Amino acid sequence: MTPTLDLVVHDAREVVVGPDENENGDDDGLRRHENAGIAVVDGRVAAVGPTNELRRAYPPENARESLDATGKTVVPGFVDAHTHACFAGDRSDEFEAKLRGASYGELLAQGGGILRTVRAVRETSTRELTADLLAHLDVMLAHGTTTVEVKSGYGLDTETELRMLRAMADADDAHPVDVVPTFMGAHAVPQGRTGDDYVEDVVCEQLPAVADQGIARFCDVFCDEGAFTPEQSRRVLDAGRDHGLTPKVHAEELAHTGGARLASQVEAASADHLLRATAADVEALVDADVVPVLLPGTAFSLGGDYADARAMLDAGAPAALATDFNPNCFARSMPFAMTLACVGMRLTPAEALVAATAHAARALDFGAGPGGGERGTLREDAPADLAVVDAPSHTHLAYDFDVNRVERVVKGGEVVH
Ligand code: NIG
Ligand code: FE
Repeated sequence: MTPTLDLVVHDAREVVVGPDENENGDDDGLRRHENAGIAVVDGRVAAVGPTNELRRAYPPENARESLDATGKTVVPGFVDAHTHACFAGDRSDEFEAKLRGASYGELLAQGGGILRTVRAVRETSTRELTADLLAHLDVMLAHGTTTVEVKSGYGLDTETELRMLRAMADADDAHPVDVVPTFMGAHAVPQGRTGDDYVEDVVCEQLPAVADQGIARFCDVFCDEGAFTPEQSRRVLDAGRDHGLTPKVHAEELAHTGGARLASQVEAASADHLLRATAADVEALVDADVVPVLLPGTAFSLGGDYADARAMLDAGAPAALATDFNPNCFARSMPFAMTLACVGMRLTPAEALVAATAHAARALDFGAGPGGGERGTLREDAPADLAVVDAPSHTHLAYDFDVNRVERVVKGGEVVH
């Protein structure tokens, strides 16, 4: 088959390729070109560089589609590496209860929080779960997200966990955003059960059924006070690994219980939240090549106690950024997560952008190397997933936080928004 010139994006004021030194020597950690463009052949980046050079080899008029990005910025599509975007019900009254002083842990202990969403999801058809998820994916796409991880964990029984994963697979088929499915049967201890007893269900019933259907890539656990102990979490993650699912851990969010250390011991793809992680935890994560995932939206919605992201970056960790979109953190926009990462965690706009793209791809095992294809970058050969931002530089993604600056989105070389 002859290669197809799918798309040429031309005349952008700035094109961000990914993390690296800068062409023009001002080292903000981003490889970027000015007055530049991108050519896409067969869904992948064929060339990126100054528009005048690009035009000669890839004339826009010969492409199936072309985008004039004059005065605009082109960035890799965002990879949202941690969400609970498949849910049902309304917990806005808990937002009010938290404003009156109730804590997240208290609401959960009273059968609210996750357990309340579980009751709603069990009563919702798979078709409705899919429709709601698709509507959320539309919002994410409009804000530049092209890949999103979604966790189950609002079923807490085999049938409903499988239905959630089915809804994710159906949404993935029907929508341009790629959905990466994570099984999270160990998201909360169902009412009237003990953790130990429920973990047996997860390991002996839920995991084999999930593996049988082949519809999850990762296995996550909520290792925290009021949820699962490190020992219970390890049992779930080891069993998940035996079934071919790569571990992930919700670690050190509400209390320091050892989740980060566990993540490093089981060689998890990521350890997420980390509000109470210590310097030793961060060192262990770096040594074991576990990606720390920052979720400033959750910290913001719970009152602004942020993870020490600076310490992670200074220790050399490839910190990733995600929305954690869920009924407790109702925010789907990666640019807003970038604003929070900058203002709340003191990341530079360039660091926030890398965290939201290349590092986030690593948290989902899409890094460089065989099969990884450098998702989260616009290097040659990477999948042509990108956003055209109506602003003169990438800094505006975090800086302009009251409007959505994302104007067009391309997925696999197709203009999809
Ligand atoms: O990552 N911490 C556990 N899970 C989610 C919250 C889910 C919920 O409250 O519904 C989180 O913040
Ligand atoms: Fe989460």
